Amino acid sequence: MLNYEKLSVIYFSPSGKTEKIVNEVAKNFSMNRESYNLLSFDDTKTFTDELVIIGVPVFDGRIPKLACERLSNLKSENTKAIVILNYGNLDYGDALLELVELLKENDFEIVGIATTVSQHPYFPEIAKNRPDMDDMKRINEFSQKVIEKLNSNTRNEIFVSGYKPYTPYKTPDFGVLCDEDLCVECMDCVYTCPEEAIPEDMPKKTSLDDCTRCSTCINVCSENARSFGGMNYAKEMETAILNNLERNEIEFFM
Ligand SMILES: Cc1cc2nc3c(=O)[nH]c(=O)nc-3n(C[C@H](O)[C@H](O)[C@H](O)COP(=O)(O)O)c2cc1C
Repeated sequence: MLNYEKLSVIYFSPSGKTEKIVNEVAKNFSMNRESYNLLSFDDTKTFTDELVIIGVPVFDGRIPKLACERLSNLKSENTKAIVILNYGNLDYGDALLELVELLKENDFEIVGIATTVSQHPYFPEIAKNRPDMDDMKRINEFSQKVIEKLNSNTRNEIFVSGYKPYTPYKTPDFGVLCDEDLCVECMDCVYTCPEEAIPEDMPKKTSLDDCTRCSTCINVCSENARSFGGMNYAKEMETAILNNLERNEIEFFM
């Protein structure tokens, strides 16, 4: 019987898949739940004597820079963390090591990690419709293993792959486009863009120097006016599809 008063669910999830997965894990726990969406939550906080689930996606072999900054503000006092690293079936590069090191620095005790796979927002043919039913089964299997471990009070260090210095941050050569005929200037993208890359006075534009291509604006647009595109997009899509259609399965690190 788990003895925690509260479960905190912490995620960074521009296209919503990581959020879906952490919530699936959370369903396995009956405590009161509190959620922290790191696209908007930028406070400092210490989690004390708690259980947390932390989920972030992989951006170019790293954890997204903004997610890293916001996670750095979250500290633990005697708090255990269940960790989800969600990637688009390509490669998670150094992101797993980066996430583990960051959480350890902030004193979280990691009880289990799952690397999960979701449909890639740039290349929707890759990991299409994932997480799917098989993924959800495996995510619940992972959750049960974590519960067993928590109940048995087992403590161990979890070692993961990755290299330091971490691979440098990258921004793709392609951009985010707005179909000016479809855009109704509702401003949803302006107010949800975590990088403030869409100017309030010109919501049909995107400052590509500030934009990380995270896909929040595309996901939030009810008119489907926003999309990835521009120079190099078709070519990158072709190469990515050629190399990454084979299904990667969810891995557990306990
Ligand atoms: C900017 C950006 C970079 C990405 N880089 C990678 C990558 O290096 N490897 C990979 O497998 N998937 C990559 N992906 C795919 C995401 O990790 C994956 O689709 C994840 O599900 C997105 O999570 P979300 O739905 O919670 O936003 C990238 C996605 C974006 C938007």
